Amino acid sequence: MTNTTDDDKEVEDLEITLLLEGMFKRYGYDFRDYSMAHLRRRLRYRLESSSLPDMGAMLHLVLHDRSFFELLLRDLSINVTEMFRDPDIYLMIRNEIVPRLKTWPFVKIWHAGCATGEEVYSMAILLHEEGLLERCQIYATDFNQIALKKAKAGIFPLDQVRKFTSNYQKSGGRESFSDYYTADNDSVILKNWLKTRIVFADHNLVTDSVFSEMQLVVCRNVLIYFNRDLQERIFQTFYDSLCPGGFLWLGSKESLKLSAIGKRFEALFPDEKIYKRAL
Ligand SMILES: C[S@@+](CC[C@H](N)C(=O)[O-])C[C@H]1O[C@@H](n2cnc3c(N)ncnc32)[C@H](O)[C@@H]1O
Repeated sequence: MTNTTDDDKEVEDLEITLLLEGMFKRYGYDFRDYSMAHLRRRLRYRLESSSLPDMGAMLHLVLHDRSFFELLLRDLSINVTEMFRDPDIYLMIRNEIVPRLKTWPFVKIWHAGCATGEEVYSMAILLHEEGLLERCQIYATDFNQIALKKAKAGIFPLDQVRKFTSNYQKSGGRESFSDYYTADNDSVILKNWLKTRIVFADHNLVTDSVFSEMQLVVCRNVLIYFNRDLQERIFQTFYDSLCPGGFLWLGSKESLKLSAIGKRFEALFPDEKIYKRAL
């Protein structure tokens, strides 16, 4: 016999499934293959914050009120990021991957799930210092338009600069980090020239198409929110987007290890989650 708690959870999961189906059918955003643990956590948070009685009420609201859907969209997209996050891996990118990238006449890089842009600006700085930026085209994409707008602006809170500077130094930075921004009251504004090789674009990994002939795909701390099936589909997207011998850089908790497509990649630096597409 099931107890009430199990029963409640079963009903809640069913309501969540209906909610996701409704969001997809009504607005085209597909969260159906995100991890249930992530969905439950974030939707319960919204339930409480908006004082709604249950997920059923949330379904009604989402179908009838676009602004509520947009609120939910923000809840489901976690934008936590920082410049030179995991600095030791940036050091490895600098020392091990950039020299390999230099063997191509022109280099295309895709940052999928770039959030507010800190990761992509870190890459632009690194490539500049290694003399490669001018030969690169960087695509920075996310499906969260509010995050993308911030990314395009390149303005960050001043109180984060100490952390960014420390990360930059640990990542093998060759200059003074302050060369790359001007301070203005409570913010730092990144220098405009850092943006010249970057194209920011709205792109949904689940429903939009592949990029082509990339030398490097960076997708860190995005796939952790997806279930195994969706992760597998996205790995295929990355495989199709990379040129033979191109590199894939995942987040610290993500891996190709158990993936069926893993055998079509070489685990170049498995601890750092850097893979190479087979030739
Ligand atoms: C935690 S942030 C990671 C930011 C950065 N890559 C990093 O590691 O610092 C995750 C980002 O993935 C984005 N994201 C989640 N699902 C997505 C999807 N289906 N398509 C595109 N971006 C997505 C979110 O909007 C969010 O900006």
